[in-house]
Amino acid sequence: MAVIAGAYFALAFWSAALLRRFFHKLAFSAQRLIFRAGRMKDFRQMKRRGEKITALTAYDYPTARLLDETGIDIILVGDSLGMVVLGYKDTTGVTLEEMLHHTRAVARGVKQALLVADMPIHTYDTPEQAVETARKFVDAGAGAVKLEGGLSHVEQIEAITQAGIQFMAHIGMLPQRVREEGGYRIKGRTQSEAEALLTDARAVEKAGAFSVVLEIVVADVARQITNAIGIPTIGIGSGKHCDGQILVTHDLIGLFPWFTPKFVSPEARVAEEIRRAVRAFIERTRNRGMGR
Ligand code: KIV
Repeated sequence: MAVIAGAYFALAFWSAALLRRFFHKLAFSAQRLIFRAGRMKDFRQMKRRGEKITALTAYDYPTARLLDETGIDIILVGDSLGMVVLGYKDTTGVTLEEMLHHTRAVARGVKQALLVADMPIHTYDTPEQAVETARKFVDAGAGAVKLEGGLSHVEQIEAITQAGIQFMAHIGMLPQRVREEGGYRIKGRTQSEAEALLTDARAVEKAGAFSVVLEIVVADVARQITNAIGIPTIGIGSGKHCDGQILVTHDLIGLFPWFTPKFVSPEARVAEEIRRAVRAFIERTRNRGMGR
């Protein structure tokens, strides 16, 4: 009798725990769905209406919150993180753990913008791996993911979009390939390069991308691509004809003074402000013995 009662209680306890976990997961997924759905603007409509789309990068909570409060459309946790925050030479050393850590921080500061997270190199080598990585970013709070590649990555892009995850494409100069390419070179200079870019753009649209970043593409080629596809093009160093523009925030606000890409016109000199404030602090501490 005691054995039966014991087994009965164990079973009841186990089922209750299982049910609790199931409902908790359900509530969490539903919350995430609502959370993300609210942030996904109709970017195709914006393109049709000729409304320019604005996008900037963020890697931490305060920057994300400031950008979000200012009304930016898209916040990208770019793997440029590696260069402007972590001090790496390029983006090829950025790890998935680093990207997820910074995505979680950014997600805490974002209420209205669409949060897109960059999938780092070698985290999307196969369609299965791409979906697994994309899901990790969604769990970290991203509303969409981005990877570098066009026609060459159609299977990965289809797998991600078929898994119900919003996807932003990235073609043109691909920083994750900078070592093979021997530098950051403009794309679309030759007829064959321009045609390949157009093929890439059409392929990512067909695979379900909601937008495509064009990085350092000849302005006239960027214009042709913009006119040829239904999803918005978001340019970086690709001229004014794109449907939107994206920049690394550190470049825009002058927070990485050791290197500024040629196509950027900084709107602020934050590095100078930091230096000025630090000098003032050093001086008043040394001269007056007070930190305030
Ligand atoms: O990593 C990044 O910041 C990017 C943008 C420059 C588009 O991919």
